[in-house]
Amino acid sequence: MTYLQTIATNGRITHDITPCGWDCGNGYSKLHTPQGQILIPSYFKSLSDSDKNDYESLGNGALVEYLQGDRTDLVNSKWLIGETAEIYFKQSFGRIVDDWRNKITYGLQMLLGAIALVPRQQTYNLLVVASLHDSQAFSSDLKRALQGNHTVKFDGKDIVNIYVNCQVTEEGVGALLISRAPGQQKIALIDLGHGTTITSIFEGNKLLQNSRKIDTVGVHHLCEAIANNLQTRRHLNKPANPHLIREGLAKNFSYGTTAWEFSEIYSDELKGWLASCLVPAWKHLQSRADDLDAVYLVGGGAALPNVASIAARQGIATIQNSQIVNVQGLLKLAISHQK
Ligand SMILES: Nc1ncnc2c1ncn2[C@@H]1O[C@H](COP(=O)(O)OP(=O)(O)OP(=O)(O)O)[C@@H](O)[C@H]1O
Ligand SMILES: [Mg+2]
Repeated sequence: MTYLQTIATNGRITHDITPCGWDCGNGYSKLHTPQGQILIPSYFKSLSDSDKNDYESLGNGALVEYLQGDRTDLVNSKWLIGETAEIYFKQSFGRIVDDWRNKITYGLQMLLGAIALVPRQQTYNLLVVASLHDSQAFSSDLKRALQGNHTVKFDGKDIVNIYVNCQVTEEGVGALLISRAPGQQKIALIDLGHGTTITSIFEGNKLLQNSRKIDTVGVHHLCEAIANNLQTRRHLNKPANPHLIREGLAKNFSYGTTAWEFSEIYSDELKGWLASCLVPAWKHLQSRADDLDAVYLVGGGAALPNVASIAARQGIATIQNSQIVNVQGLLKLAISHQK
């Protein structure tokens, strides 16, 4: 998580509109503003009225209480977001990846949890450009979920007013805005996400009708496969924790704080996993490949060890900063809408 510079300097609060890109992913939620970026695991836990325990924001996450606002269904509710949910409720925290509608149902809870991690102001006036895997069908639901006035309490102490003006675009448009080389018009994107693999063809910034294929296979399934692999179970005497596997994939395959590393198991499972996500995506594009200017691989899955080189053998180029490039482009869109 990086945040480069404080929005409110010298205690002065600005009511200016802040443009934001927002990508609530199955695995990671990404908020990008001109000042920096927040990346939190897409975990949540709603707290019941009867739960009188004192919670605080721990790890890469937050405690949020909704006091009043346009989401009347949330008034007086509290929730934990990101690692905070996982730390307090190891066995029962919710994950966006558990249900495809969670990106809408828990969209505002995740967004407010991410805002809790940016430098604190009393008031935020946000122009949010969010992306969704089927914006044509669900953009109005997401807009309804996010938009409006929200008065919240962060971390049990800071009361903050947030106004959200929201626009929704197709998943991938942000990545295209950043990555398109001059002269490229028709581009295919394969997004290897945490819960999905999304294959799309764009003509300019327009998604071509019937070009999109969404497979519910993502890095999550690779983590589960590694966690339940026979060698893993033999070594740990139990299945591994998929959360620690996921973290280990970006840390030289080290598992938690143990000395165990799972690179061999990764290599064993990678082939089957790619056959279940990248290969169908590539096949889907074959009948339309003749007039494509480029095929790009995006999403955090593209940053997994060896994936870019395997994809390159099929002429698929991996975009740099593949996990956050989409949200970077969404911010660019928000800035252009603001002008
Ligand atoms: N540098 C990296 N090395 C290894 N794994 C990575 C790296 N960056 C991201 N990942 C993994 O890639 C996976 C997918 O990340 P991404 O943020 O694209 O998913 P998402 O957008 O949350 O999911 P979806 O697109 O399905 O909603 C995550 O599980 C993450 O752990
Ligand atoms: Mg994604």
